[in-house]
Amino acid sequence: MTTTPQTALPPDRVAFLDDLMARMTLPEKLGQLNLITTNIPVEDDKLAEIRAGRVGGMLGGLFPCTFGVNGPEGLRAVQEAAVRESRLGIPLLLAYDVIHGHQTVFPIPLAVSCTWDLDHVEVTARTAAREASASGLNWVFSPMVDIGRDPRWGRIAEGSGEDPYLGAQIAGAMIHGLQGDDLSSPDSVMACVKHFVGYGAPEGGRDYNNADMSPARLWDVYLPPFQAAVAAEAGSVMMAFSAVNGMPSHADTDLLSKILPGVLKVSDFDGIPEMIAHGLGDEAGQIVADDPLQTLSERALRAGVQMDMMGKGFITRLEAALAAGRVTMAQIDSACRAVLEAKEKLGLFADPFARFDPARAAQVILAPQHRQAARTVAADSCVLLKNDGDLLPLAKTGTIAVVGPLADDTKNVLGPWAFQGDPATAVSVLAGIRAVVGDGATVLHARGANITEDRRMLDLLNFAGPKVDLDPRTPEEMQAEAVEVARRADVVIAVVGEAAEMSGESASRMDIGIPENQRDLLKALHQTGTPVVLVTMNGRPLTLPWEAETLPAILVSWFGGCEAGHAVADLLFGDRVPSGRLTTSWPRHVGQVPLPYDRATTGRPGNPANDPGKYSTRCYLDGPSEPLFPFGFGLSTTVFAYGVPQVDAPVLRGDVPLTVTVEVTNAGTRTGVETVQLYLTDPVASVVRPGRQLRGFRKVRLEPGQTQTVSFTLTTADLEFHDQALNRTWEPGQFIIGIGPHSADLKTVSVDWLKD
Ligand code: BGC
Repeated sequence: MTTTPQTALPPDRVAFLDDLMARMTLPEKLGQLNLITTNIPVEDDKLAEIRAGRVGGMLGGLFPCTFGVNGPEGLRAVQEAAVRESRLGIPLLLAYDVIHGHQTVFPIPLAVSCTWDLDHVEVTARTAAREASASGLNWVFSPMVDIGRDPRWGRIAEGSGEDPYLGAQIAGAMIHGLQGDDLSSPDSVMACVKHFVGYGAPEGGRDYNNADMSPARLWDVYLPPFQAAVAAEAGSVMMAFSAVNGMPSHADTDLLSKILPGVLKVSDFDGIPEMIAHGLGDEAGQIVADDPLQTLSERALRAGVQMDMMGKGFITRLEAALAAGRVTMAQIDSACRAVLEAKEKLGLFADPFARFDPARAAQVILAPQHRQAARTVAADSCVLLKNDGDLLPLAKTGTIAVVGPLADDTKNVLGPWAFQGDPATAVSVLAGIRAVVGDGATVLHARGANITEDRRMLDLLNFAGPKVDLDPRTPEEMQAEAVEVARRADVVIAVVGEAAEMSGESASRMDIGIPENQRDLLKALHQTGTPVVLVTMNGRPLTLPWEAETLPAILVSWFGGCEAGHAVADLLFGDRVPSGRLTTSWPRHVGQVPLPYDRATTGRPGNPANDPGKYSTRCYLDGPSEPLFPFGFGLSTTVFAYGVPQVDAPVLRGDVPLTVTVEVTNAGTRTGVETVQLYLTDPVASVVRPGRQLRGFRKVRLEPGQTQTVSFTLTTADLEFHDQALNRTWEPGQFIIGIGPHSADLKTVSVDWLKD
């Protein structure tokens, strides 16, 4: 596959960079490849390195770092040192992990993907770019476009779910939001797409673990979002820690050159030296000069990695590698050029201080319109999984018990990777409910339980300082209080789930249910007889078999960011209609994973009841194969009726577009927003194909009784896949087009699509 070449620089800027490079020494060139971390105020030894021209970029410290909070002054000192005190005055790339908002914290990316709304996605990224850039940052390590199909993997929270088609569209919207129409504009930041590639497929769901997969799967499932990001002119890409098919991406010459020409390629944090622990040598399996760091640093450069984040090998070992003839000056020049071009495209040479603007920072950070956007996106991210007897929306009257360890929480609600988010600016669900119901209802509250009582987990979560608050009362005392409150109420809203740190990096779980002590609380609340609305806070799909069987209403609120409390209350009390749809399959039991919706059928039947003559089936003896909630699923507080899809031509020849239409009616009594989904099946092919693949979606808002004809266009590009020789191709024949409310509820029409 070829990727769109990145926009070329104008000739005078090319000449400027040529001249600059001609004046650079070898150590200065290697300095540009060196990406280090800092705290603010920056440490003296790091300032000295910057002044010596030995640093190309800086990443804000991993743990709460204050530059955003205090405005741009701290960071400015770093840029001053580079521009005014180094010999050539080359400005620095100033980076941070801005994952779902900066100080206005949006829902986690997995939640935002559940809006199926590319405008929402772009708004989250644009808002983050405006705020981060006003704090002096010019580079963000976002978006994470890893396809995630294993909910045990904590970083599933940072991506857009399991589907490559949706993931690719979201990747493009993120890049446009972060980089804007003009990357050099002071309110744009350079995106860094991560983690290249296959990082979302770790064996056993354990973070950093390696993956083994067919090349066709790599190309059809894991690469498309990266290709979309490159096509959208993403400025940079970060490598993955893990090895896929035996090769860490930091050393993967083949993939780096095929997919990422013209994009700045950066290692992950310490990712180059970590190849030593992978047991990697050079291309011949040897350690060079008795120095593993040199061996892997030169190998990464040869493979195409251009910036070394925290590995220190580029800055300390490449001179020796050059002298030994193991890397070429052309390879070093090309990496240095990529860094300088990124700086040029960001406008840093024209004005290195344009992004340091305290007045703009004061104006944009947590601006009312940013908070309003966060509230809207948070509401549209929530997914309604169950609503028996139309329990929701609730009336703003009577007595409402708001219970659970996450009900009055302003810290976890921000989610993982929200280092610049300040809990003092966040709205808890309890506060949101109080604000939305006003004086018409009595709102009671009890904590009911801690997030977890699992000591091992707590020790791990709190390893770098206390993260998960514990109530000093015993579980029995907390639960008794909650039960008493529930008995006095007309309805219970139970806000339970995960601590923020239970998802995100290095936060895999083997049990993906609601922690046991919180489930005990739910059972006790249920036994009071007061109806329980379950509101989950979570960074991954959860297994909820008991809850789905027993409780009348379930709303998934993810980690909704600083406006989560208002957003959840808006939905619970009918001020906004629930419209989120899952972008991952939700298993019944962790033993089912991975369980993506596009899995292929096999030769054996799925359910013996449907095929009694056959003894051997592919289902489990102790439970069904199907997920509890399928990909694309989400309820509304109205019901939608679908017609049978229509095509404008039952037989097509060659590369002509096909129009598919379907009538969708709001058959209920409330306004609703539906996400109409189109899936394609290729029933006969030269290789086993996915059972169905998402190929289109449209969001429509319908008043009660209203019908709308929704139209989709398909082209032969939608039919393509990688064959075993990795050729991208499509095969003529019958195709089945299914349209419906989610991946497991489709009405179909078929077409014959012939080559000519
Ligand atoms: C993560 C990256 C992140 C980097 C810098 C790494 O551990 O894998 O996603 O951007 O740290 O914080």
